[in-house]
Amino acid sequence: MAAYLTGEQVEGFDRDGFLVVEGFADPAACERLRARASELVAAFDPGEVRSVFSTLDPQQSRDDYFLDSGDKVRCFFEEEAFDEAGELRQPKDLSINKIGHAMHDLDAVFAGFSRSPELAAVAADIGMADPRLLQSMYIFKQPRIGGEVNLHQDATFLYTEPISVRGFWFALEDATKENGCMWALPGGHRLGLKERYFVSDGAAVFEDVDHVDWDTDALVPLEAPQGTLVLIHGLLPHWSGPNRSDKSRHAYTIHAIDGAAVYPPDNWLRRRPDLPLRGFEG
Ligand code: FE2
Repeated sequence: MAAYLTGEQVEGFDRDGFLVVEGFADPAACERLRARASELVAAFDPGEVRSVFSTLDPQQSRDDYFLDSGDKVRCFFEEEAFDEAGELRQPKDLSINKIGHAMHDLDAVFAGFSRSPELAAVAADIGMADPRLLQSMYIFKQPRIGGEVNLHQDATFLYTEPISVRGFWFALEDATKENGCMWALPGGHRLGLKERYFVSDGAAVFEDVDHVDWDTDALVPLEAPQGTLVLIHGLLPHWSGPNRSDKSRHAYTIHAIDGAAVYPPDNWLRRRPDLPLRGFEG
């Protein structure tokens, strides 16, 4: 398979745990994803979610809505989207936090973007022997209300033995410090896994794995113009700030694991048997 990345880029990824590849996706392809996400939101009835969340145990209902989304296409709202009366505080299309977690398999537009010879080559370049697309997310990072995402490692949530998850993050709009770009700790992927998130008795829990101290002063911003691909090692500590600007910061992410790695049955993300994980080939 033809290599996509240069040797220098691969070295940079191994050293830093991330790699910023500008100009990976065409602007037109980014706009197609944005238009499709907009259609998915337009077709989504927030009343369904509101009624789910107003059942006997709202917290459990919220957990279930998330925990059951590994093989579905579901919309998730910003934390403060609903007021006390259960009404949206602002229009639906400005209240959505993300869509997840299987549009790379279930939605034709996202599926087409998610599999290509170029992506297959990139995955091979960064050492993935048998990549399998596990999760996809469309992240809105809405103007003014887009919340921060805590400093975390993707392997906390998408754990395998050995750890194999790699993130493919696409800037569908320019991501800057002003509208909440990602920040990462260079080399932090060599410090070990801090914690693991899994399901125990139907509830999601975090468990400490290693005591790792992250030097938050050493975080660097990963500003990314539209079309940029940012590769993220599963152990890389990264976060993104809140968006207080007037500009949205839409991004699409794919997370892939190695087909030979063990996938624990208590991971939060589960797929039904008739939807097996597939690679980057179209
Ligand atoms: Fe992440």
